[in-house]
Amino acid sequence: MSGKIEDGLIKPTGTMVTYSSYLKVHDLLSLQNVLSTPPEHDEMLFIIIHQTYELWFKQLLHELTLAESDLGADNSFGALKTLKRMTAIQNILTQQVSILETMTPNDFNLFRSRLNPASGFQSHQFRALEFRMGLKDSAYLNFFVTQPESLQVLQAARARPCFNDHLMGYFARQGYKIPQDVLSRDVTMEWTRSEAVEEIFTTIYENHQSHLTTYMLLEALCDLDQQFTLWRYRHVAMVERMIGSRVGTGGSSGVKYLATTLGKRFFPELWSLRGRLGASAVYGQPVT
Ligand code: HEM
Repeated sequence: MSGKIEDGLIKPTGTMVTYSSYLKVHDLLSLQNVLSTPPEHDEMLFIIIHQTYELWFKQLLHELTLAESDLGADNSFGALKTLKRMTAIQNILTQQVSILETMTPNDFNLFRSRLNPASGFQSHQFRALEFRMGLKDSAYLNFFVTQPESLQVLQAARARPCFNDHLMGYFARQGYKIPQDVLSRDVTMEWTRSEAVEEIFTTIYENHQSHLTTYMLLEALCDLDQQFTLWRYRHVAMVERMIGSRVGTGGSSGVKYLATTLGKRFFPELWSLRGRLGASAVYGQPVT
């Protein structure tokens, strides 16, 4: 910083970094342009909440890159710390929905037609997150053909190994017997549940005392996956409250389409293995 202190105050000398210049506050505050004329009060909330989501999506992608390189360096505690932060962010994204719910359907309908055909469908950062977590449904690329910049980001996200691929490399280096076909799979394709991986994870859960680090890592991934799932539920409930059974501005069947996404999971093995746990328990008796 360039500046000198006079009478207890910082007097600028030359170009001094300020709160505003560092954070580009004036630029940031000039980005909320409502489309309604005269301006509808709630459109500002609608814009700000979406922009906030996009900023947090950016941070999530940033953290994801770190979590991947933590795994690549076999730094399990670094990965755990990063995943914890990602889950905390996702938790806020889920809770944020309640701010939007202070807008009534009547308030929303005053400006909704102006948005057509814009939709959360076109959030390339949301889709990039899904792709990088292994949900690489190429059909979604069609929504970006008119937005070459976004399409490029998504194609790059699709081409690279997903988080599960990084995880498998890490597990293999830790001595777990990850099958070769999993380690050398075509990474541009969706991650699909692997029976062999699920068996390894199940062994870790059943003997977690002797696999503490990997067990904690898997539980942290489950926390993250659960928060994403909760966002999906929270979003669809809010959408139903807002537009009922109407079609979406992005052209889908709206709530009906969103309901089909509720079963999506980044780590399918972590969910299905739970059905295997405790199989040897006899009810009413302690597990031996
Ligand atoms: C009044 C508020 C909202 C309504 C009525 C609404 C409605 C919808 C609908 C109907 C869809 C399905 C696609 C379509 O046909 O448009 C959708 C998708 C989506 N929305 Fe919203 N939404 C709202 C707020 C938000 C907010 C605040 C976000 C935060 C970024 C968001 C993110 C998304 C995303 C990422 C998708 C794609 C989901 C997927 O394909 O799995 N939405 N939304």
